[in-house]
Amino acid sequence: MIDHMRTRGTALPKEERTFLVEAAKGAVGLFGNSVRFVNIGVEYGASVWCLLAGAPTATLYAIDPQFSLLIGDPNIIRLEGKSQSQKILTQICMPIHLCFIDGSHWLRSVRADVRNFSKLVSSEGILIFHDYHNPTDLPARREVKQAVDEWFKQERESWKEVSAPGSLCAFRKRQHLPVRQIE
Ligand SMILES: C[S@@+](CC[C@H](N)C(=O)[O-])C[C@H]1O[C@@H](n2cnc3c(N)ncnc32)[C@H](O)[C@@H]1O
Repeated sequence: MIDHMRTRGTALPKEERTFLVEAAKGAVGLFGNSVRFVNIGVEYGASVWCLLAGAPTATLYAIDPQFSLLIGDPNIIRLEGKSQSQKILTQICMPIHLCFIDGSHWLRSVRADVRNFSKLVSSEGILIFHDYHNPTDLPARREVKQAVDEWFKQERESWKEVSAPGSLCAFRKRQHLPVRQIE
């Protein structure tokens, strides 16, 4: 049995793991046991195990170009490839109730992820970014903030920011907004 609070992955501290567990539980509370989640960026699997700890019955699409580091055998749908790839996107069944973005941190990639995946999220669903709040660290992390800020500036009417700890940044989709198809 994997302990989701200890699974290797130094980049995901305790308060962020707790937030992911609670966000997953919250999604079950809002949408029921048949929730659908996306986790972009798997590595050792800390975030995947946290999401499953909060929502053991969720359908979890996990996206990463490679799964060789993943610890344990979580009950996930492995989509091997880049999250920006159209082939990956078309394998995801909508709507998504929680989307955690922690894959490529480069500007173009985060821009594509936020544009594509925000459209898949249902009304009242949650979108969570890792490495938003550490702008003095690696340049690539500054680009997460830039891409998210650009997106939110355009989408304030559709999303509201929710409080999140550590480097996380989270948004909830306002009610009664339709899910849009990927163009
Ligand atoms: C910081 S790690 C993810 C950590 C993980 N969320 C955790 O909780 O431990 C980033 C991961 O993103 C993956 N990645 C890099 N580029 C990607 C892309 N374009 N699409 C999806 N995943 C990508 C890497 O292979 C790596 O496993």
